[in-house]
Amino acid sequence: MTLVEEFTGVRVRAPGKINVFLEVGALQADGYHELATAFQAVSLFEDVVVTASDDFTLAVTGTVDTSGVPEDDRNLALRAAKLLAAETGYDGGVHIDIRKEVPVAGGMGGGSADAAAVLVACDALWGTGLSSRQLHALAARLGADVPFALKGGTAIGTGRGDDLKPALARGRFEWVIVPNPEGLSTPSVYGELDRHREQHPVDIPAAPETPDVDADVLHALRAGDARMLAAALRNDLQAAALRLRPDLAEVLEFGEANGALAGLVSGSGPSLAFLAESAEDARGLQQTLERAGHEAIHVHGPVHGARIV
Ligand code: C5P
Repeated sequence: MTLVEEFTGVRVRAPGKINVFLEVGALQADGYHELATAFQAVSLFEDVVVTASDDFTLAVTGTVDTSGVPEDDRNLALRAAKLLAAETGYDGGVHIDIRKEVPVAGGMGGGSADAAAVLVACDALWGTGLSSRQLHALAARLGADVPFALKGGTAIGTGRGDDLKPALARGRFEWVIVPNPEGLSTPSVYGELDRHREQHPVDIPAAPETPDVDADVLHALRAGDARMLAAALRNDLQAAALRLRPDLAEVLEFGEANGALAGLVSGSGPSLAFLAESAEDARGLQQTLERAGHEAIHVHGPVHGARIV
């Protein structure tokens, strides 16, 4: 038997994301904020392989620093497998191998992509045959960004960010990502935004009653126009992330002065995303950032959501 025939696992790839627009509303009773966001899946992928096992185990490697990633029940991927087993009555286990490309705790949804990939992979491995609607419901229970990692592409998220509608997007957008070695915790960034809004109402607009994605963003995505999108990029978490990590502001300015149409903090940060006009401009910007001592990765979006490969 050849090696290929012996492989009885399932391999799924799921993408990281950038929030090209993120408006954050008020804190709700459940500890989440109501928000309106435009997600774009980008070409940094989590590669997840699941194989049959009696218990639930996990191993994490990657092209990014994975030393901070827990391999126990704190890991959303393991929780995803256990949730699927509990919901379907599957009584075996699984071994999960994750190879990460998405920066850890970087605001690009890497952990959410892992969870989405595990749902799709285990559903295939175990033959539990859930519909995409059922997978979406489980994804939403795991985290606000997990449903988007299932879907991919470009989408509008409301509610916690998990109520998704596809957005029409033409063409391809070129991005340069600058990861940061020191992650930021998502709850602490949301907490900082709430504090900032309360203490400095003059500096920062109050939480909108009903968050909504600006029409300019939708137009720019539909037109496939990077210049238009650059003018419409917005992230309400950026001010909070920059208060926690003032060093990021300088990198944002450096990128914008060196060929980016615009830059923004990705999600809750600290990864930065710079939008470029063309693939060539993105390569130039990547090299300039690298020469200045920053890690920089050229990616594009939109790309597909979690799927078996
Ligand atoms: O759902 P997820 O685990 O990704 O969210 C992490 C944390 O981010 C939440 O516990 C909450 O503090 C914050 N969050 C929020 N409002 C959202 C999404 C996330 O406050 N819509």
